[in-house]
Amino acid sequence: MTNANPNPLLEVDNLHVTFTTHGGTVQAVRGVSLSLKPGETLAIVGESGCGKSVTARSLMRLLPEHSSRITGGSIRFKGRELTALNERQMRELRGSEISMIFQDAMTALNPTISIGEQIMEGIVRHRKVSRSEARKQAIEILKLVGIPNPEARLKQYLHEFSGGMRQRIMIAIAVVCEPSVLIADEPTTALDVTIQAQIIELFKKLQERTGVSIIIITHDLGVVAKIADRVNVMYAGQVVESGTVDELFQHPQHPYTQGLLGSMPRLDMEKDVPLTPIPGTPPDLFAPPKGCAFAARCPYAMKVCGAYPPEPVSVSASHTAACWLQDERAQNVFQPPIKINIKSALG
Ligand SMILES: Nc1ncnc2c1ncn2[C@@H]1O[C@H](COP(=O)(O)OP(=O)(O)O)[C@@H](O)[C@H]1O
Ligand SMILES: [Mg+2]
Repeated sequence: MTNANPNPLLEVDNLHVTFTTHGGTVQAVRGVSLSLKPGETLAIVGESGCGKSVTARSLMRLLPEHSSRITGGSIRFKGRELTALNERQMRELRGSEISMIFQDAMTALNPTISIGEQIMEGIVRHRKVSRSEARKQAIEILKLVGIPNPEARLKQYLHEFSGGMRQRIMIAIAVVCEPSVLIADEPTTALDVTIQAQIIELFKKLQERTGVSIIIITHDLGVVAKIADRVNVMYAGQVVESGTVDELFQHPQHPYTQGLLGSMPRLDMEKDVPLTPIPGTPPDLFAPPKGCAFAARCPYAMKVCGAYPPEPVSVSASHTAACWLQDERAQNVFQPPIKINIKSALG
């Protein structure tokens, strides 16, 4: 959790990413800013297609080489500008300084190579140690992530592990070289609820041990409440609201965040609690609207919302919302339609 050092480890400023497709140019990420302090956990939430994965992959510079482009903004990590690094320099950072866990272990891991070889590969590459030392470290990390009988398990292949165990192996590979930033893109989505909770506990344990900063992309508010310090809410390639977990759960300021809180499932939720989907669909990112991207779906939209994009406004020192309702000249139409009880979200 948050540590005393206030300097950001990672700072993204006004990032823009586009994809060139047959249908034209997709503006997938449109001015995303975020910062991450040492030891902190930032959650990124938002509907499917809003640019969460593209933002995450930009940090790793793992976007499709030919079809995508970072067209603006900066990504500073420990004082270095990542957008300016070449592939060789990025390869040195990946795994050793910044690691990523993908949603689907089955496609992210190699089914034709033993688990041990896949874990040792990173250790040998980044730590320049002997194979026997790498093997020792691989056994240690498998123990740490909770895989029983690691000596024997090292020789096995992906298909010999359950879904939860595969996710633990991905985590082992991601953290074995003790990166300072761990990016987890929907790491629990494919797992059943009990295993999800165990994986979240594992992230917390790893963070306590190593002080790693975590960016977690998730659809689950229970996961957010359990692990995150702060939350960025994304909509149509932009961050529309950002604040601490308490601020966003108890005083959501952006109508989109309010809608999202009522529409997202939670780890701890009783089966019969109804979810209220936000009516309408996100805008077309081939031709994003010139005003607020959420205006067409917003119950409070004013004329200005369709005409000019809202700038982020500070609600508190740690809380911003990009919404015209925050303008002091706006009428007070604001009636948060739902209240989330953080105690119940925390389970
Ligand atoms: N390889 C790609 N080619 C073209 N468009 C893409 C590609 N990857 C992502 N996009 C587009 O970028 C936008 C953001 O995608 P993504 O970051 O994957 O969303 P999510 O928030 O669900 O992770 C989407 O509109 C998607 O269609
Ligand atoms: Mg995604």
